[in-house]
Amino acid sequence: MSENFSLAENYKVRDIELAAAGRMKIDWSESRMPVMAALRKEHAEKQSLKGFRITGCLHVTKETAVLIETLKAAGAEISWSGCNPLSTSDEVAAALAQAGISIYAWHGMNTEDFYWCIDKTLEIKPTMTLDDGADLIFSVHNRHPGLIEGILGGTEETTTGVHRLRAMAKDGALKYPVIAVNDAETKWDFDNVFGTGQSSLDGIMRATSVLLAGKNFVVAGYGHCGYGCALRADGMGANVIATEIKATAALKATLNGHRVMQMDEAAAVGDIFITATGMKDVIVGRHFEVMRDGAIVCNTGHYDCEIKIDDLEALAESKRTIRPNCEEYLMKDGRRIYILAQGRLVNLAAAEGHPSEVMDMSFANQFLSMVALAEKGREMEVDVHDITDEQDQTIATIKLETLDAGLDFLTPDQIAYMDDYSAGT
Ligand SMILES: NC(=O)c1ccc[n+]([C@@H]2O[C@H](COP(=O)([O-])OP(=O)(O)OC[C@H]3O[C@@H](n4cnc5c(N)ncnc54)[C@H](O)[C@@H]3O)[C@@H](O)[C@H]2O)c1
Repeated sequence: MSENFSLAENYKVRDIELAAAGRMKIDWSESRMPVMAALRKEHAEKQSLKGFRITGCLHVTKETAVLIETLKAAGAEISWSGCNPLSTSDEVAAALAQAGISIYAWHGMNTEDFYWCIDKTLEIKPTMTLDDGADLIFSVHNRHPGLIEGILGGTEETTTGVHRLRAMAKDGALKYPVIAVNDAETKWDFDNVFGTGQSSLDGIMRATSVLLAGKNFVVAGYGHCGYGCALRADGMGANVIATEIKATAALKATLNGHRVMQMDEAAAVGDIFITATGMKDVIVGRHFEVMRDGAIVCNTGHYDCEIKIDDLEALAESKRTIRPNCEEYLMKDGRRIYILAQGRLVNLAAAEGHPSEVMDMSFANQFLSMVALAEKGREMEVDVHDITDEQDQTIATIKLETLDAGLDFLTPDQIAYMDDYSAGT
């Protein structure tokens, strides 16, 4: 930690002088997050989170700042760190620090810093934890088990985190209830699809400025995020190729007009590769060996283990940073392969993460889950819980109102018809 930082009793950020720029970013997001605005108004009046302490570990973006300030307006005490070494906006972190939030986050930290920040945020002895990727919950369970007794519950934002927490619950290793925010319909079907689709392509374009039209665009994993990336790449004229391990997902890709093939085959024909699987070692040495000159490789899955960059390091003759967030590897046969954002989430490291409009719904789920934990965390079974359909419908309804979309409703007669098994043809 040799570089300069702004340090105080309750924060460590890159430079507090960036606060004014950060505040403008937050204002911009706030104006595009009407569901959060409605929740802030209601719960600031109710003070629903007064007396509760929330430790969060989630990308420090302008949208996250809106979540943090909404939790604070509802009465909670907050401490926060970023959940990825490359996703923190230093401007936003400075603005939050200046607004009195306990925050430990800066762009470009190393692994040691990462856990130091988490440990600092746990000093408030949280009553709730809020995660993206489950590193905070793991830290509580493995390194600070003494805090568990005081914790009512936690939330988890992303697919990879939910997978791991469900595995923990199955093994009896999870010690407090967790709400799977990721699995809400108003999160998984919007944030992961439309958010990841748009922002990942944004990251690729900012890092490379290449033309997408006509390129072979390989999407590894045709789940929510992969589908979103394919949808947007297709819309920009790229030829999408999907790789999958799940037959139904591969079939969907085929019927959406994409070629589906194994990565061993796709590696030789792709121009741009994006991994979105949540699985490790999806692109490895043998794939780099056959890639075309100029191939661009990036990841939008949660962890940086999907692309085995160590293999590329071993195969390459040299490397240089040719553009921000873009490393050029020169292979021994003269081919050049480009890795974006060091294999970390390309949308957050090379662009700004998801647009505010989509985070509005994801963070409404986070916020309402925190209120639910405050109200009934103590009675909840220690397990990973789904968000209720009622919460999903409430969030979608508020969002629709802001989009000038009219919603039909069933008449009493139609409601009766739904369960009527006496009528046929
Ligand atoms: N970039 C972001 O901002 C962002 C946003 C949301 C989620 N995520 C992360 O993206 C990842 C994917 O999330 P999701 O919601 O799309 O999950 P998902 O479960 O909907 O989709 C993942 C897909 O990958 C497939 N897959 C798994 N291993 C594979 C392999 N080796 N080769 C090819 N396909 C494989 C699965 O069959 C599945 O269809 C997770 O790590 C998640 O945490 C990132």
